[in-house]
Amino acid sequence: MIHLQNENLLIAIFRYLLKSLFLSSLLTTHCVARNFEKVDTSIFKNGGINEFVEWRDNRGELINAHDGGIIESNGTYYWYGLALRPLKVSKDENNGAATTTGITLYSSKNLYNWKYEGVILSTSTDTANPLRAPMRMERPKIIYNEKTHKYVLWFHYVGYPGKHGEAIGTADAGVAVADKITGPFTYIGHHRPINDSGAVKDCTLFVDTDASAYFIFDRKETNGSRCLHIVKLTDDYLHSTNKWSKIEVANRREAPVVIKHEGIYYLVTSDVSGWKSNAAKVYKATTIMGQWEIVGNPCEGEGAEATYNTQGTNAFCVHGDKNQTIIMLERHNTENFMRCSYVWLPVVFTANKQLLFPYKKEWELNSIVTQKK
Ligand code: GAL
Repeated sequence: MIHLQNENLLIAIFRYLLKSLFLSSLLTTHCVARNFEKVDTSIFKNGGINEFVEWRDNRGELINAHDGGIIESNGTYYWYGLALRPLKVSKDENNGAATTTGITLYSSKNLYNWKYEGVILSTSTDTANPLRAPMRMERPKIIYNEKTHKYVLWFHYVGYPGKHGEAIGTADAGVAVADKITGPFTYIGHHRPINDSGAVKDCTLFVDTDASAYFIFDRKETNGSRCLHIVKLTDDYLHSTNKWSKIEVANRREAPVVIKHEGIYYLVTSDVSGWKSNAAKVYKATTIMGQWEIVGNPCEGEGAEATYNTQGTNAFCVHGDKNQTIIMLERHNTENFMRCSYVWLPVVFTANKQLLFPYKKEWELNSIVTQKK
């Protein structure tokens, strides 16, 4: 009898040890088993420059919020982006880069652990709906309007069936609005900023310190020329105005990300080579409408010639602190878009007004303030 009890005790201890070992290995990484309820981590894992690291939410599901951004509201961070599909890139483009879901949202208090909040702008199955799936809502960006208390969303609109084009409805600026960041967003429509002409490609939004907001986009004119343009938005951020400028030095550049630091506007861009990574280039200006000048490549070391196999998406500050700026990049996976990898890096502003983001396989938030050179 005593012998049997000891044996049971030994089995129980052995089981407990096995369980703890299993749990602790889960807690130290984003790469966790499916259906595990709580994904706790306290480190950003980018992996090696050829690696696709899995970032998972509180349900253990892959975070499916691509080419989007982060917005902070009442002490909570919200990560939004396009829900992609587990398909390969294909010629007709009706593939993993198109969406049948829409724009998704996740929330976090600490930027490490993300809770799935749902779809904030849905695609539709209705053939008459402008958001009929499959389609694309590429590079969605959300800003908050202090006057109207509304959240405003702009994106690169590519209507059903989600094939990039030049015609109206295949390369426009899509706009939606909501009372709460958690949505639902109401679709307002799509248009072409600047004289109602020029195809809209990659884009972003920027709110300046005086609350004026801007839509920055790759504009393709009928003669085939492509250049980044910047257009001022109306006070409610829902429409574009006729105040705009062409960023002449940013000819054939895309994936724009705007960062303002100590009175300087920085514009991070990629070259135009589809999903294939290329060298990033930074521009700077002292006024948002320009003159812009070239700063150079923000990457250093291995992989600098291809932005560490990524493309820029968005930048945000930790609790509004401009000295703690994080750039969000994405390592696109054309074999399976659900397996794209998120790469977040701390931004370094140098004394001679350069902007850099050296690669880190992994890093913690508390290391960011020591990043200044
Ligand atoms: C990339 C662009 C993406 C997407 C892709 C499609 O260059 O940055 O947003 O449009 O091309 O090929």
